[in-house]
Amino acid sequence: MRKSRIGVLTGGGDCAGLNPAIKWVVKTALDKRLESERGVQHEVLGIRNGWKGLMYAENASLNIQDHVMPLDEERVRTWDRYGGTMLGTSRTNPYHPKDDQSKTVLNNIEKLGLDALIVIGGDDTLGVADKLSQEGVNVVGIPKTIDNDLAETNYTLGFETALNVITEEVDRLRTTAGSHQRIFVVETMGRHTGWLALEGGESCGAYIILIPEYDFSIEKVNELLLEGRRAGARYEIVLVAEGAKPIGGTEFVRQEGVDSFGHKMLSGVADFLAKEISKGTDVETRSIILSHLQRGGAPCAYDRRMGRYFGIAAVDLIVMRDFGKMVCYRNGEITTCPLQKVIGRTHCVNLATQYDTERYNGRRNLLIHGKGETDARRFR
Ligand code: F6P
Repeated sequence: MRKSRIGVLTGGGDCAGLNPAIKWVVKTALDKRLESERGVQHEVLGIRNGWKGLMYAENASLNIQDHVMPLDEERVRTWDRYGGTMLGTSRTNPYHPKDDQSKTVLNNIEKLGLDALIVIGGDDTLGVADKLSQEGVNVVGIPKTIDNDLAETNYTLGFETALNVITEEVDRLRTTAGSHQRIFVVETMGRHTGWLALEGGESCGAYIILIPEYDFSIEKVNELLLEGRRAGARYEIVLVAEGAKPIGGTEFVRQEGVDSFGHKMLSGVADFLAKEISKGTDVETRSIILSHLQRGGAPCAYDRRMGRYFGIAAVDLIVMRDFGKMVCYRNGEITTCPLQKVIGRTHCVNLATQYDTERYNGRRNLLIHGKGETDARRFR
């Protein structure tokens, strides 16, 4: 029987849903019944710490166990219950313009005898996978990021669990906000897209939602808040995405510099907004940054199922020898698309159909404005 060794790695920011995907890659690849149907005997090798693992995997001076982890059904049996990634992750760019390590990665893929590589990541990690694919490596991608900003897929692992965190934390804030009659400004992650703020805000019933796709007017925010107070509200929750900015302003950064893929480290808009709101409304206002809490915790049921489906589909692609693809979820189906169609494109909130630019919130007329333009996120 033909033998095939599959490598699997997780890269970029961690999130819930990675471990379920790894578990189902392993279970599907090693399934005995499928093995005889396929006529291929698979082996699965976990690569530790994202692309970093493949940069050092064969370095004689380092312990190989630090960089790879053989995976079998017994090892991954309980993994789908846990958040984060048991393989570890890193924001490592082997194609870094100032330190190109891609040849080392290619050599190590060969030395480790990997027939195919399953890469679980967002745009950066999958961008590296795409480049390796063009160099002849058999890669398959699985989409993950709490930002849900990848093109060609309506879902990326980790998003739904992050929405649950936002909802739970805002529920907690409501009691203290109400007791003190305060305004709370809650900052979500999401980079340059507003999915976490928008769908998180819709889930928890935020009064105002501010997203990077639509620059906000601070005067308008204050007007809306005072209108709420006049109508009898005791407190308000404002949800703001880390990439949102005031009209004429720039994005807020938590520290200068960029990561190894050239991204600014965003954060700080909530503090700015809280000060502007308390000045403009005279209402006591506090800010809170949810930050990495959104990436933490056990995967919700949806992420466990999606991790399972994506993991199974990734192995299906390997069995079919259909490489250079990402598994995705579109219009209610698990399907696939070429990695090249995904990379460098950002899936943004559609202002015409998904955001109310007057209320700074989710739309209240979905069908009328949907006219012919179906957006599958509504049917997830
Ligand atoms: O892409 C996921 C994400 O959590 C973004 O929402 C956020 O801007 C970024 O990663 C934070 O990255 P780090 O964990 O490197 O601080």
